[in-house]
Amino acid sequence: VLAFFQPKLLAGRKVVLTAGPTFEAIDPVRGITNTSSGKMGYALAQACVRAGAEVVLVSGPTGLPAPLGADRVDVRSALQMRNAVMAALSGADVFIGVAAVADYRPLEAAEHKVKKSSAELTLTLTPNPDILAEVAARPAAPFCVGFAAESRDLDAYAEGKRRAKRLPMLVGNLVQDGLGGDDNQVILYDDAGRHPIERAPKTEVAQKIVEHLAKLLTMSGN
Ligand code: CTP
Ligand code: CA
Repeated sequence: VLAFFQPKLLAGRKVVLTAGPTFEAIDPVRGITNTSSGKMGYALAQACVRAGAEVVLVSGPTGLPAPLGADRVDVRSALQMRNAVMAALSGADVFIGVAAVADYRPLEAAEHKVKKSSAELTLTLTPNPDILAEVAARPAAPFCVGFAAESRDLDAYAEGKRRAKRLPMLVGNLVQDGLGGDDNQVILYDDAGRHPIERAPKTEVAQKIVEHLAKLLTMSGN
Protein backbone atom coordinates (compact mmCIF):
# COMPACT_ATOMS: atom_id res chain seq x y z
CA VAL A 1 0.00 0.00 0.00
CA LEU A 2 2.80 2.37 0.92
CA ALA A 3 4.23 2.05 -2.59
CA PHE A 4 1.31 4.13 -3.85
CA PHE A 5 2.52 7.10 -1.84
CA GLN A 6 6.17 6.94 -2.79
CA PRO A 7 7.13 9.97 -4.85
CA LYS A 8 8.48 9.19 -8.30
CA LEU A 9 12.26 8.97 -8.51
CA LEU A 10 12.72 12.12 -10.60
CA ALA A 11 9.62 14.06 -9.58
CA GLY A 12 10.18 17.79 -9.90
CA ARG A 13 13.42 17.33 -11.87
CA LYS A 14 14.19 18.67 -15.33
CA VAL A 15 16.33 16.35 -17.46
CA VAL A 16 17.95 17.30 -20.77
CA LEU A 17 19.27 14.45 -22.93
CA THR A 18 20.99 14.09 -26.29
CA ALA A 19 20.44 10.99 -28.40
CA GLY A 20 21.11 9.53 -31.81
CA PRO A 21 23.91 10.33 -34.22
CA THR A 22 24.79 13.71 -35.66
CA PHE A 23 25.11 14.29 -39.40
CA GLU A 24 27.78 16.63 -40.72
CA ALA A 25 27.14 17.88 -44.23
CA ILE A 26 29.76 17.61 -46.95
CA ASP A 27 27.43 19.02 -49.61
CA PRO A 28 23.62 19.15 -50.03
CA VAL A 29 23.36 15.40 -50.61
CA ARG A 30 26.26 13.93 -48.60
CA GLY A 31 27.63 13.91 -45.11
CA ILE A 32 29.48 12.00 -42.44
CA THR A 33 27.77 10.46 -39.48
CA ASN A 34 28.18 7.95 -36.65
CA THR A 35 26.45 4.62 -36.22
CA SER A 36 23.77 5.09 -33.58
CA SER A 37 20.17 3.87 -33.57
CA GLY A 38 19.12 6.31 -30.82
CA LYS A 39 17.32 3.46 -29.03
CA MET A 40 19.26 3.74 -25.75
CA GLY A 41 18.79 7.52 -25.54
CA TYR A 42 15.09 7.31 -26.37
CA ALA A 43 14.58 4.51 -23.83
CA LEU A 44 16.34 6.61 -21.21
CA ALA A 45 14.26 9.69 -22.05
CA GLN A 46 11.12 7.56 -21.70
CA ALA A 47 12.33 6.17 -18.35
CA CYS A 48 12.95 9.73 -17.11
CA VAL A 49 9.38 10.72 -18.10
CA ARG A 50 8.06 7.66 -16.29
CA ALA A 51 10.10 8.66 -13.23
CA GLY A 52 8.25 11.98 -13.16
CA ALA A 53 10.84 14.27 -14.76
CA GLU A 54 10.26 17.10 -17.22
CA VAL A 55 12.26 15.85 -20.20
CA VAL A 56 13.83 17.63 -23.17
CA LEU A 57 15.29 15.22 -25.72
CA VAL A 58 17.66 16.82 -28.21
CA SER A 59 17.85 14.26 -30.99
CA GLY A 60 19.91 13.73 -34.08
CA PRO A 61 18.33 11.94 -37.06
CA THR A 62 16.97 8.56 -35.86
CA GLY A 63 13.56 7.99 -37.41
CA LEU A 64 12.27 6.92 -33.98
CA PRO A 65 8.93 8.15 -32.63
CA ALA A 66 9.25 10.78 -29.87
CA PRO A 67 9.03 9.33 -26.36
CA LEU A 68 5.57 10.07 -24.97
CA GLY A 69 5.58 13.02 -22.63
CA ALA A 70 9.02 14.28 -23.64
CA ASP A 71 9.69 17.52 -25.46
CA ARG A 72 11.77 16.53 -28.50
CA VAL A 73 14.01 18.98 -30.33
CA ASP A 74 15.25 17.66 -33.70
CA VAL A 75 18.72 18.60 -34.86
CA ARG A 76 21.15 17.38 -37.48
CA SER A 77 24.70 18.57 -36.84
CA ALA A 78 26.78 18.70 -33.68
CA LEU A 79 26.75 22.50 -33.76
CA GLN A 80 22.94 22.48 -33.93
CA MET A 81 22.85 19.93 -31.12
CA ARG A 82 25.07 22.10 -28.96
CA ASN A 83 22.87 25.17 -29.56
CA ALA A 84 19.69 23.25 -28.78
CA VAL A 85 21.22 21.84 -25.59
CA MET A 86 22.40 25.25 -24.37
CA ALA A 87 18.92 26.68 -25.07
CA ALA A 88 17.25 23.84 -23.14
CA LEU A 89 19.56 23.85 -20.13
CA SER A 90 17.98 26.63 -18.12
CA GLY A 91 16.54 25.12 -14.95
CA ALA A 92 17.89 21.66 -15.75
CA ASP A 93 18.89 19.41 -12.84
CA VAL A 94 20.37 16.67 -15.00
CA PHE A 95 22.12 16.48 -18.37
CA ILE A 96 22.63 13.09 -20.01
CA GLY A 97 24.75 12.84 -23.16
CA VAL A 98 23.73 9.69 -24.97
CA ALA A 99 24.28 11.00 -28.50
CA ALA A 100 27.04 9.66 -30.72
CA VAL A 101 28.25 13.12 -31.65
CA ALA A 102 30.54 13.27 -34.69
CA ASP A 103 33.95 14.29 -33.38
CA TYR A 104 34.70 16.18 -36.62
CA ARG A 105 32.81 18.02 -39.32
CA PRO A 106 33.91 19.10 -42.78
CA LEU A 107 35.62 22.47 -42.44
CA GLU A 108 33.34 23.80 -45.15
CA ALA A 109 30.13 22.28 -46.49
CA ALA A 110 29.92 22.82 -50.24
CA GLU A 111 26.92 24.88 -51.28
CA HIS A 112 26.38 22.73 -54.36
CA LYS A 113 26.74 19.04 -55.05
CA VAL A 114 30.38 18.03 -55.43
CA LYS A 115 31.00 16.59 -58.88
CA LYS A 116 33.12 13.50 -59.28
CA SER A 117 36.42 13.43 -61.08
CA SER A 118 39.11 10.81 -61.42
CA ALA A 119 41.45 12.75 -59.13
CA GLU A 120 41.85 12.06 -55.41
CA LEU A 121 39.62 14.13 -53.19
CA THR A 122 40.79 15.40 -49.81
CA LEU A 123 38.25 16.37 -47.20
CA THR A 124 39.44 18.66 -44.41
CA LEU A 125 37.75 18.02 -41.08
CA THR A 126 37.67 20.29 -38.06
CA PRO A 127 36.89 19.20 -34.48
CA ASN A 128 33.36 19.63 -33.15
CA PRO A 129 32.79 21.04 -29.65
CA ASP A 130 32.42 18.47 -26.89
CA ILE A 131 28.87 19.21 -25.74
CA LEU A 132 28.99 17.12 -22.59
CA ALA A 133 32.35 18.51 -21.45
CA GLU A 134 31.07 22.04 -22.09
CA VAL A 135 27.91 21.48 -20.05
CA ALA A 136 29.84 19.83 -17.20
CA ALA A 137 32.30 22.75 -17.07
CA ARG A 138 29.60 25.40 -16.66
CA PRO A 139 29.56 27.29 -13.33
CA ALA A 140 26.20 25.97 -12.12
CA ALA A 141 26.37 22.71 -14.06
CA PRO A 142 23.53 20.23 -13.80
CA PHE A 143 24.32 16.67 -12.65
CA CYS A 144 26.02 15.29 -15.77
CA VAL A 145 25.91 11.72 -17.04
CA GLY A 146 28.06 10.54 -19.94
CA PHE A 147 28.00 7.48 -22.14
CA ALA A 148 30.95 5.66 -23.64
CA ALA A 149 30.67 2.96 -26.26
CA GLU A 150 34.06 1.33 -26.68
CA SER A 151 35.34 -1.54 -28.78
CA ARG A 152 37.98 -2.58 -26.19
CA ASP A 153 39.45 -1.72 -22.77
CA LEU A 154 36.05 -0.52 -21.52
CA ASP A 155 36.98 0.09 -17.87
CA ALA A 156 40.05 2.18 -18.66
CA TYR A 157 38.44 4.29 -21.39
CA ALA A 158 35.15 4.76 -19.55
CA GLU A 159 36.71 5.81 -16.27
CA GLY A 160 39.21 7.97 -18.18
CA LYS A 161 36.36 9.83 -19.90
CA ARG A 162 34.43 10.21 -16.68
CA ARG A 163 37.42 11.87 -15.04
CA ALA A 164 38.48 13.95 -18.03
CA LYS A 165 34.98 15.41 -18.41
CA ARG A 166 34.47 15.61 -14.60
CA LEU A 167 31.28 13.55 -14.60
CA PRO A 168 29.75 12.10 -11.44
CA MET A 169 28.37 9.21 -13.51
CA LEU A 170 29.09 7.48 -16.80
CA VAL A 171 27.45 4.54 -18.56
CA GLY A 172 29.86 2.34 -20.45
CA ASN A 173 29.29 -0.50 -22.86
CA LEU A 174 31.16 -2.49 -25.45
CA VAL A 175 29.82 -1.73 -28.94
CA GLN A 176 29.56 -5.44 -29.65
CA ASP A 177 27.05 -5.64 -26.74
CA GLY A 178 24.62 -2.89 -27.62
CA LEU A 179 24.94 -1.21 -30.98
CA GLY A 180 21.70 -1.17 -32.95
CA GLY A 181 20.03 -3.96 -30.99
CA ASP A 182 17.16 -3.93 -28.50
CA ASP A 183 19.28 -5.30 -25.63
CA ASN A 184 22.27 -3.78 -23.94
CA GLN A 185 24.82 -4.73 -21.33
CA VAL A 186 26.30 -1.76 -19.51
CA ILE A 187 28.51 -0.89 -16.56
CA LEU A 188 27.86 2.23 -14.49
CA TYR A 189 30.90 4.16 -13.29
CA ASP A 190 30.83 6.65 -10.44
CA ASP A 191 33.05 7.87 -7.58
CA ALA A 192 32.35 4.64 -5.69
CA GLY A 193 33.55 2.40 -8.53
CA ARG A 194 31.98 0.22 -11.20
CA HIS A 195 28.49 -1.26 -11.11
CA PRO A 196 27.73 -3.86 -13.80
CA ILE A 197 24.09 -4.18 -14.89
CA GLU A 198 22.98 -7.49 -16.24
CA ARG A 199 22.18 -7.81 -19.92
CA ALA A 200 18.56 -6.74 -20.54
CA PRO A 201 16.27 -4.92 -22.99
CA LYS A 202 17.26 -1.26 -23.35
CA THR A 203 14.00 -0.22 -21.66
CA GLU A 204 15.00 -2.17 -18.52
CA VAL A 205 18.58 -0.97 -18.63
CA ALA A 206 17.21 2.58 -18.84
CA GLN A 207 15.15 2.02 -15.70
CA LYS A 208 18.27 0.80 -13.82
CA ILE A 209 20.23 3.84 -15.00
CA VAL A 210 17.45 6.13 -13.74
CA GLU A 211 17.43 4.39 -10.36
CA HIS A 212 21.20 4.81 -9.98
CA LEU A 213 21.06 8.41 -11.19
CA ALA A 214 18.27 9.27 -8.74
CA LYS A 215 20.27 7.76 -5.88
CA LEU A 216 23.42 9.73 -6.73
CA LEU A 217 21.40 12.90 -7.26
CA THR A 218 19.89 12.60 -3.78
CA MET A 219 23.27 11.74 -2.24
CA SER A 220 24.90 14.75 -3.87
CA GLY A 221 22.38 16.95 -2.11
CA ASN A 222 20.78 18.16 -5.33
N1 CTP B 1 30.07 13.86 -26.41
C1 CTP B 1 29.54 15.12 -26.62
N2 CTP B 1 30.03 15.91 -27.62
C2 CTP B 1 31.01 15.47 -28.41
C3 CTP B 1 31.57 14.18 -28.23
C4 CTP B 1 31.07 13.39 -27.21
O1 CTP B 1 28.63 15.53 -25.89
N3 CTP B 1 31.47 16.27 -29.39
C5 CTP B 1 29.56 13.03 -25.30
C6 CTP B 1 28.80 11.79 -25.75
O2 CTP B 1 27.42 12.06 -25.90
C7 CTP B 1 29.07 10.82 -24.61
C8 CTP B 1 30.46 11.20 -24.14
O3 CTP B 1 30.67 12.56 -24.57
O4 CTP B 1 28.21 11.02 -23.51
C9 CTP B 1 31.55 10.33 -24.64
O5 CTP B 1 31.54 10.31 -26.04
P1 CTP B 1 32.62 9.46 -26.81
O6 CTP B 1 32.49 9.68 -28.27
O7 CTP B 1 32.58 8.06 -26.27
O8 CTP B 1 33.99 10.09 -26.25
P2 CTP B 1 34.94 11.19 -26.81
O9 CTP B 1 35.24 12.10 -25.68
O10 CTP B 1 34.40 11.84 -28.05
O11 CTP B 1 36.27 10.36 -27.15
P3 CTP B 1 36.56 9.29 -28.35
O12 CTP B 1 35.48 9.41 -29.39
O13 CTP B 1 37.91 9.67 -28.87
O14 CTP B 1 36.57 7.93 -27.70
CA1 CA C 1 33.71 10.67 -29.89
